[in-house]
Amino acid sequence: MSDDLDVLLSEHRKFDPPAAFRAGAAIASPDVYDRASADLRRYWGEQADKLEWITRYETVLDWKPPHARWFDGGTLNVSANCLDRHVRTARRNKAALVFEGEPGDRRTLTYWDLYVQVNQFANVLKSLGVTRGDRVAIYLPLIPEAAVAMLACARIGAIHSVVFGGFSPESLRDRINDSECKVLVTADGGYRRGSVVPLKRNADKALEETPSIEHVVVVRRRPGAVGDEAFAEMTEGRDLWYHRLMRGAAMWCEPEAMDAEDVLFILYTSGTTGKPKGIVHTTAGYLVGAQTSTAQVFDLKDDDVFWCTADVGWVTGHTYLVYGPLANGATCVMYEGAPDWPEKDRFWEVCERLGVTILYTAPTAIRAFMKWGDHWPARHDLSRLRLLGSVGEPINPEAWMWYREHIGGNRCPIVDTWWQTETGSIVISPLPALTATKPGSATVPLPGYSAAILDVKGNEIPVGGGLLALTQPWPSMLRTIWGDAKRYVDTYFSKWPGHPELYFPGDGAKRDDDGYFWILGRVDDVLNVAGHRIGTMEVESALVEHPAVAEAAVVGKTHELKGQAIAAFVTLREGFKQSPGMRDELRDFVGEKIGAIAKPDDVLFSADLPKTRSGKIMRRLLRDIAEGRALGDTTTLADPNVVSSLKEMYEAQES
Ligand code: WTA
Repeated sequence: MSDDLDVLLSEHRKFDPPAAFRAGAAIASPDVYDRASADLRRYWGEQADKLEWITRYETVLDWKPPHARWFDGGTLNVSANCLDRHVRTARRNKAALVFEGEPGDRRTLTYWDLYVQVNQFANVLKSLGVTRGDRVAIYLPLIPEAAVAMLACARIGAIHSVVFGGFSPESLRDRINDSECKVLVTADGGYRRGSVVPLKRNADKALEETPSIEHVVVVRRRPGAVGDEAFAEMTEGRDLWYHRLMRGAAMWCEPEAMDAEDVLFILYTSGTTGKPKGIVHTTAGYLVGAQTSTAQVFDLKDDDVFWCTADVGWVTGHTYLVYGPLANGATCVMYEGAPDWPEKDRFWEVCERLGVTILYTAPTAIRAFMKWGDHWPARHDLSRLRLLGSVGEPINPEAWMWYREHIGGNRCPIVDTWWQTETGSIVISPLPALTATKPGSATVPLPGYSAAILDVKGNEIPVGGGLLALTQPWPSMLRTIWGDAKRYVDTYFSKWPGHPELYFPGDGAKRDDDGYFWILGRVDDVLNVAGHRIGTMEVESALVEHPAVAEAAVVGKTHELKGQAIAAFVTLREGFKQSPGMRDELRDFVGEKIGAIAKPDDVLFSADLPKTRSGKIMRRLLRDIAEGRALGDTTTLADPNVVSSLKEMYEAQES
């Protein structure tokens, strides 16, 4: 049994970096790749020297596979790197966060404003007994106080664990208990698609079984909420109002000198199955990764307006909404709500009004925009945009082309960035002024990173499909799983026995003749048709290439002869109708594009696909549907109704 993947799709479009972009780019010379690979320690040492250290590190890397220590001997403070060093300069009055709430409320915090609030909240946390090494849970809407709370923790050396505001009371409870958080920071509610998200009510439910929590700090997002259904009551002695605590707090808090390898935060990732893993990131390495990648990949300039649309509940929000941009002194947009509220052009309206120059979003959003239609972005002047980014899933080439044309005006380079919660920062991505891009490929590892495609025995596949591996340590890599050192080794460093230095991210990928990487999907999702192992991405991309299709997910289902047959779940673009004719057309279309082997046996049309709360398609549940099994765990789904109605539709079609 081999783990090689068949390569089906060939994509020949290629886009050179725009000449106008090259002038003045952060990295304009390709030497950087060679310099980095010639001496990894020197390269990362140079990047680390761009931070502000309290004590300079002694060694760059101590690598005892699979355990790395970066920048040992150094001490520093992350909040001082994100704030104090900017308020000493002319950036003091620059906008750090430009916030827009879903209802339309707006707030701009300068670096100085943010600095003062972080200092104050750091003092608040101290007054509640939080000290270095204690854990603080943050369960907030996407509002500036989320960044304030994170940075305040970093200032006093407390470890934050941000839990996405869309998670249930049970998920919050389990995460609080796993790392025994002492304080919870939440809000009286947030807004999503016009409704109130009852954060405090959910938190109250979680708090029935979280013995470690001593205090709950409540941010007031909805004045007058107390007593209403989404809020309930403050519990005396335990619950405290954020704004009251802040009023009395001193405005200076000495930043704690943290060791390079002290834990900065825990972030739980559930993947698609199993008990959530508390991914542990440490101070210096994480910040080096965040600062370096933000500067290089997004080519940040002082006058850019950078909008990363991710929530702080995900790693993308940690690294590219908070730590990376602030370490670089950038202006960030933070938008609380849904992209289709009150209308399906909210993102474009925000881009136009705030003058966004760099937009970083996810394929799931891009495919929704495609589905809604080209006229929504066309209503807005998006000419200030100069760079687009994508993250979270493989982006289908047609979605990439749509993004390029309808959002980027065929002008902006696209950086398709591959990385994970575990990697802490971007690993594989174009550099916008240097790398020619190909739709659907994340291109090549950034300077200082190295990846390969390996077969199951660990042999390299120079051209072709197989398992993605990262072959060298990098500063922002996870250090362990909170409370489960063994699971860290088993999950990430045990794929190739005898090679504890090889990191396995769990993704399948292929490499083309130019050495470009194409992520083919999670290996758990790989299809096996008549002995051919096929990544989900290529079949889905062939479907999305059809003008009627906005989004597609494919899974394997048991087949007597072929081993597996392919079942496709397809969402059509607005204006197209499902029909038996359309089904046959799509099957033939895939057959023509990538070969008869990949022709879906079943095609089911659906307005929605089951997704995780961060927008990733959950193929595991689609497999249950296709196999006619009982549905597995649906608790990590954004909308559990989607999958139950899909199951009914599928069964009706079968009978
Ligand atoms: C997938 C998000 C293809 C991949 C930062 C990875 C991608 C998982 C890309 C991590 C991309 C992320 N192209 N696939 N550009 N970016 N992925 O932890 O399967 O939420 O392993 O981190 O998302 O997801 P996570």
